[in-house]
Amino acid sequence: MKIIISNNHLETSKKACDLFIKLLGKGYYNIGLATGSTQIRLYHELVKAYKSSKIDFSLVNTFNLDEYYKINPDYSLSYRYFMDNHFFKHINLPKKNINFLNGLANDPIIECKKYETKIKSLGYLDLQILGIGVNGHIGFCEPYSSFDSETSLVNLSDETIKQNSDGRFFKNKEEVPKQALTMGMKTIINAKKILVLANGQRKASAVNKAIEGPISSKVPASILLNHKNVVWMLDKEASSELK
Ligand code: F6R
Repeated sequence: MKIIISNNHLETSKKACDLFIKLLGKGYYNIGLATGSTQIRLYHELVKAYKSSKIDFSLVNTFNLDEYYKINPDYSLSYRYFMDNHFFKHINLPKKNINFLNGLANDPIIECKKYETKIKSLGYLDLQILGIGVNGHIGFCEPYSSFDSETSLVNLSDETIKQNSDGRFFKNKEEVPKQALTMGMKTIINAKKILVLANGQRKASAVNKAIEGPISSKVPASILLNHKNVVWMLDKEASSELK
């Protein structure tokens, strides 16, 4: 495991962008993406890099980690809308290369199975970008998710509903969908390389538990201790509880 600590969110995002560009140059084309306030600056840095011809997305295939259920992809608080707005519409990523769980799928089980099968058919992802929840979740794999889980429909924990209704996205708890479609822990951990980003004091405790262990389903991100190729990029505050 590699841990890179920066002064602030912007520096973390710039370093993550540089690593992304380097890995793309090595042929890491199948990439798992995350949404959320942590990732916004990374996408802005990647868009800037694209506009100054430092990166080309034409060969990239993206797979987003998760989507609320049921939510219309065109709704401004869907993860699909987030990605279109912050990233996809600004770069030369072919539309057909964007893979996304459909928040309106009639049959979520079939939707998840199809997604998992496609990722497996690629031999899993080359690079997975992750954020971490205050409760240690990755994607929407909440505490006590099975380490063997594949893409599936899950219930969101009270903590996640609370965090996501703090005004950054939804304004109150009632607005937040209570379920989501998410890649599973097994789907995530099978990626060849994993880059986790975390910023701010509110992430410090989860980061500490994930990095210092023990490995426990209580802290889903602690499963990353089992992976040989993980890079954590943290700002000073998120790293403040590491011993
Ligand atoms: C969303 C996702 C989540 C977030 C996590 C942190 O696609 O994968 O696990 O990464 O909830 O969210 P922020 O960055 O908003 O604190």
